[in-house]
Amino acid sequence: MEIAKHGGNIYEMAEKLGIPPYEIIDFSANINPLGVPDSFRKAMLENISILANYPDPRYKNLIQSIARYHGIREDYIIVGNGAAEVIFSLISGLKPRKALLLAPTFLEYERALIKAGCEVKHYLLKEELDFRVDEGFFKAIDEDTDLVILCNPNNPTGQLVDRRMKDTILEICRERRIGLMVDEAFNEFLACPQEESMISSLENYKNLYILRSLTKFFALPGLRIGYGISSNREMLNKIEKCKEPWMVNSFAALAGEIVVKDQAYIEESRRWIFSEREYLYDKLREIEKIKVYKPAANYILFRVLDEKGSHLQEKLLRQKILIRSCANYENLNGSYFRAAVKDRLANEKLVQALKEVLYES
Ligand SMILES: Cc1ncc(COP(=O)(O)O)c(C=O)c1O
Repeated sequence: MEIAKHGGNIYEMAEKLGIPPYEIIDFSANINPLGVPDSFRKAMLENISILANYPDPRYKNLIQSIARYHGIREDYIIVGNGAAEVIFSLISGLKPRKALLLAPTFLEYERALIKAGCEVKHYLLKEELDFRVDEGFFKAIDEDTDLVILCNPNNPTGQLVDRRMKDTILEICRERRIGLMVDEAFNEFLACPQEESMISSLENYKNLYILRSLTKFFALPGLRIGYGISSNREMLNKIEKCKEPWMVNSFAALAGEIVVKDQAYIEESRRWIFSEREYLYDKLREIEKIKVYKPAANYILFRVLDEKGSHLQEKLLRQKILIRSCANYENLNGSYFRAAVKDRLANEKLVQALKEVLYES
């Protein structure tokens, strides 16, 4: 069976199985299982008529809300049709010639870089360090590098870049006039989101570009809403000039404006993530045939230690469970898989199904 390129491709899998997509338990996309926040559901129903107008091309209310959420200036923010679109616009604005990427990492950076005609260099993260960024990365930032991309926490490994390491990378990049793009799409799932974010460095580092998404934590992948943050107003202007108008639809703009103020949803989600992540991590670690990497966010990377790993995704699919095969990531192979942390019932089903498949004779 062909393997989906990204997580979340329940449509293709359902077609192959001849079942409706909603019958599949999707562990392959890392989305908050609390689902669409009620605050947005209500606002959407009350504001259905906004669809009869174009969205505000300046996205004033949306940007104001995001600026308050982070305590930053409004003119540091550009919004986009998901963080994925912001990645492509940022890279086409920066026009790098040689970029340094972690391996493994989120696949869209490389696609955007190749589209922009940029040479891509990978820094191979070490399995024996559980794929954490180590000091060798400093040396990999060579003379020709003009863009460094970090994903923090990294997808699919679930590892955070150590604070000291991040500061050193930021300093090296500033000294050598290298752009540093840091993708914080999963920041809200972390134990200490503010402390782990590089937003506090924005003011002093004009070479820093931060990416955020409302897709994951606020469970809105179908809406497409993300944003970029930088104090480099000149670059943001350049990017905005090249952008197509109305990239963010009216409902996505409304959602962004509302959900970041929904403190009850934020707190409930965080309470849930800490207990469920712990539960799933502990249960997976009890399975001796897999190695589990400690997660910082809402997804867990694991490796199957024997040959049964090669068909694990297909075997679980027969039980209508979809996990992400990591075979198409640079520096990983078909024995690595990623599973999102979901609600207790789903997590229990995954653990049970994994045991059955891995220990079947
Ligand atoms: C690290 C990372 N950044 C960005 C994105 C894209 O997010 P969005 O849905 O906002 O385009 C993803 C989606 O999987 C991701 O994993």
